[in-house]
Amino acid sequence: MILKILDLSIDFGGVKALQQVTFNVKEGQIKAVIGPNGAGKTTLFNLITGIFPPSSGGIHFDDVKIDSLKSHKIAELGVTRTFQNLEIFDNMTVLENVMVGRHLRSKSGFFESAVRSESTKREEREIIESSLDYLDFVGLSMRANDMSASLPLGFQRYLEIARALASEPRLILLDEPAAGLDEKETEDLMGLIRKIRDKDITVLLVEHNMGLTMEISDEIVVLDHGELIAEGTPREIQYNKKVIEAYLGEDDVST
Ligand SMILES: Nc1ncnc2c1ncn2[C@@H]1O[C@H](COP(=O)(O)OP(=O)(O)OP(=O)(O)O)[C@@H](O)[C@H]1O
Ligand SMILES: [Mg+2]
Repeated sequence: MILKILDLSIDFGGVKALQQVTFNVKEGQIKAVIGPNGAGKTTLFNLITGIFPPSSGGIHFDDVKIDSLKSHKIAELGVTRTFQNLEIFDNMTVLENVMVGRHLRSKSGFFESAVRSESTKREEREIIESSLDYLDFVGLSMRANDMSASLPLGFQRYLEIARALASEPRLILLDEPAAGLDEKETEDLMGLIRKIRDKDITVLLVEHNMGLTMEISDEIVVLDHGELIAEGTPREIQYNKKVIEAYLGEDDVST
């Protein structure tokens, strides 16, 4: 198991955003977390990536207890993410955005490299080259020198994925990567997620697009009002009574 979530709970002043959630993620799989709006999916990602600590419960990555570690430490261990509301640096080029992700793996920090010795220059060249490789991987190298803000939404989502990959994660968390994408773009995204998995990177995916989720996931976890109500294969989840009930009345779930 690459990730173990045990009895994880968090309260936000009365709102029980997660209540004793327990599940595991196997190395090399694509696992999805689904559930109606406000179910606690993004909160789960925020806890795994150390944005804030849980009220109780534990998170282990590769048998290292990470639930009390700072975000940057968790990233260094090999956990990275993308954001539901894109967090692209608009005032940077596409390439520079990916370089930010890559700097996590470099010796000199992003800001130290202002003092440029020969070795930092060499390292800078390495960062540029590998960042271009990651852009190529997501199919964006032809836009490397464009300003990030000029990219259409679909490409901005790809850019975020490239930036996340540049930190060389072993586990990537994708928070609604298909949001706002059309059918063709969603199809392409599915190919990209599979390509990521084929690089031996484990994928934990939050997604509202049921078609994509059912087709791509090895396993699915369903949250509702902060509680885990089901876990299983896509087929098991599709016919699960609790899951169907949780989604009744939801009108924004594309099928
Ligand atoms: N930082 C926070 N402070 C207070 N309440 C929060 C905070 N983050 C999330 N919540 C609350 O926790 C609950 C779960 O929110 P969360 O964003 O995790 O849901 P979600 O499953 O990602 O929903 P969506 O599908 O709409 O993205 C909601 O009631 C939300 O208002
Ligand atoms: Mg969310």
